[in-house]
Amino acid sequence: MSDTTASTPLRVGVVGLGFAGTTALDAFSSLPGVEVVALAGQEDERLTHLAETRGVEGRYHDWEDLVARDDLDVVSVGVPNHLHAPIAIAALSSGKHVFCEKPLAPTGDLAQSMVDAARKADRVLEVAFNHRRRADVQFIRRYLDEHDIGRIYHARTSWRRRQGIPGLGSWFTNQAMAGGGPMIDLGPHMLDIALFLMDEPKVTRVSAVTYGELGRAGRGGRAAGATGGTRTFEVEDFASALLRLDTGGSIHLETSWASHSADEEDIAVELLGAAGGVRLFVRDYATDDTIRIYSDIDGVPATTVPTVHVPSGHHLKVIEEFLATIRSGAWADSYGDSALHRSRVLDAVYASAQQQQEVEVA
Ligand SMILES: NC(=O)c1ccc[n+]([C@@H]2O[C@H](COP(=O)([O-])OP(=O)(O)OC[C@H]3O[C@@H](n4cnc5c(N)ncnc54)[C@H](O)[C@@H]3O)[C@@H](O)[C@H]2O)c1
Repeated sequence: MSDTTASTPLRVGVVGLGFAGTTALDAFSSLPGVEVVALAGQEDERLTHLAETRGVEGRYHDWEDLVARDDLDVVSVGVPNHLHAPIAIAALSSGKHVFCEKPLAPTGDLAQSMVDAARKADRVLEVAFNHRRRADVQFIRRYLDEHDIGRIYHARTSWRRRQGIPGLGSWFTNQAMAGGGPMIDLGPHMLDIALFLMDEPKVTRVSAVTYGELGRAGRGGRAAGATGGTRTFEVEDFASALLRLDTGGSIHLETSWASHSADEEDIAVELLGAAGGVRLFVRDYATDDTIRIYSDIDGVPATTVPTVHVPSGHHLKVIEEFLATIRSGAWADSYGDSALHRSRVLDAVYASAQQQQEVEVA
């Protein structure tokens, strides 16, 4: 392993060749002071293609062989959710920093074991909350820092699709491999953005429902290249939750992969403040006209429409921050604790839906 605070390049191994793995591979490869020296994944042709086009020498079918290398500074984890914990723990325990896809793990307990491993090894565990790095979300964060919209007592946050079960029958719809449906797939991003914009309150109690009407009937899927799985649909396709906060405020979090509704591919976050409000609405990954700010001017309701363009490359931004943390040599608050809280909240969502009652967040 190299001296990560010096100017020597950081040596990175990337696990996973799907959307997440390829996005991380391209982001790491594009940055100065980084060498991607190893790549792992089970699609042989794609492995060869990606390694050859990106100039990566080390190629592995199984993650264990990549993580066993003793010359890596960083392991990037972009594989089905159930493999995040074993890969991250093995990498952290052998002294590597880890960049992990969301959700941290299928359950809060597994997520806890990853955070424990990061703290014990004193290595960075960063999670790919790339949507938080969107230019419009960052604009809203700055707006809230500079303007007083009063106490934000409630947020509505959602990611809803009309027809978007990713790879119906792939690992995404397998309970053991994914840990759940859209709530664990899309929910982490939307919960992350809401908590980030609300100054990181803690979620204390959750009341939730989940349904799987379309997926169980074999409907609502979209052609996608996701891998693995058992060809079954074992998770929810719709979930809705009311989260109570330690501030006395609340969040309504809703996610759907498929529903007979006006939803298309809609990301929304609304903040209701005592003296103003903010709404982010992104239809089909729109890059412009996504923000509205609500206030009163002279007692008259007023709506402001900021012009914020949203370039792509949110993974690149979170990876840049991750590398900067490593290079700073100061990462005592970068062991994944905030991602762990998000995992505990998702646990509570599923527990509440199953028990049909409000439950406490661990
Ligand atoms: N942050 C985001 O915006 C975002 C977007 C998509 C997916 N994701 C997350 O990324 C992860 C992967 O999703 P995806 O869509 O890329 O999945 P995918 O099914 O397309 O790809 C999974 C990859 O993991 C590899 N893999 C599986 N088992 C392996 C093993 N034993 N050893 C080595 N490689 C192995 C497969 O070969 C495949 O290349 C998931 O956790 C998902 O939630 C995040």
